Amino acid sequence: MDVVIAGAHGAIGRRLTRLLAARGDRVRGLLRNPDHVADVESDGGIPIVCDLESATLAEVATAIDGADAVVFAAGAGAGSGAARKLTVDRDGAILLAEAAQQAQVARYVIVSAVGAEDPPAGDEVFSVYLQAKAAADAAVMASALAWTVLRPGLLTDDAGTGSVRLDLDPYRGEVTRDDVAAVLDAVLHGQRAVGRVLYVNGGEHPVETALDDALR
Ligand SMILES: NC(=O)c1ccc[n+]([C@@H]2O[C@H](COP(=O)([O-])OP(=O)(O)OC[C@H]3O[C@@H](n4cnc5c(N)ncnc54)[C@H](OP(=O)(O)O)[C@@H]3O)[C@@H](O)[C@H]2O)c1
Repeated sequence: MDVVIAGAHGAIGRRLTRLLAARGDRVRGLLRNPDHVADVESDGGIPIVCDLESATLAEVATAIDGADAVVFAAGAGAGSGAARKLTVDRDGAILLAEAAQQAQVARYVIVSAVGAEDPPAGDEVFSVYLQAKAAADAAVMASALAWTVLRPGLLTDDAGTGSVRLDLDPYRGEVTRDDVAAVLDAVLHGQRAVGRVLYVNGGEHPVETALDDALR
């Protein structure tokens, strides 16, 4: 499979690159800081410097040309203000979706967040973050893409367990970044999660079983 990950140097992006590369997929990793090129290469990815806050639609479309799927795993990050929630988490995700349609990349998987289903009003940073996630998800879901929206609970850097809880209705727990990457890997290598919103948390069922149960 040929996959492009936006946010390839992020904590989930790096884990997903390693998983996909290990199974023999071709992985292009979009990153914004040229200092991170060597890390993405060492993960098994093909680094492409592409700042989603300044790249044009044509540039992003060229970067993802020929891919089977794109993953939006970028984010402004915990230390950022409200403005970058809008320029990265909302506009970056939407730009990638537009580029996917232009480049005829059919599949789009977005890492959103629990709470995006009902974002709070107001201009407090976390509210804006969830508003940005909600707007990005809505744009992706309204597109002609074969989309999947993943909404994890609180992310941790604990070692993955390989077991998760997947819900179609909102559920707020915790989940390791390793396990989110494992769910992304599984979702990408099948069609059953197309057109679905999945809440992703730590749980008791192996990823494939959890997918079967949630999507039956
Ligand atoms: N923290 C939580 O508990 C939580 C819960 C649910 C969902 N999420 C979401 O899960 C996603 C992944 O989380 P994570 O922990 O892997 O995030 P992360 O480690 O902060 O990675 C985000 C990546 O996005 C990149 N990025 C930022 N601005 C960019 C731009 N303009 N162009 C291209 N790339 C850009 C960052 O690059 P730089 O290194 O250059 O900044 C970074 O590598 C995020 O969307 C996050 O909002 C988080």
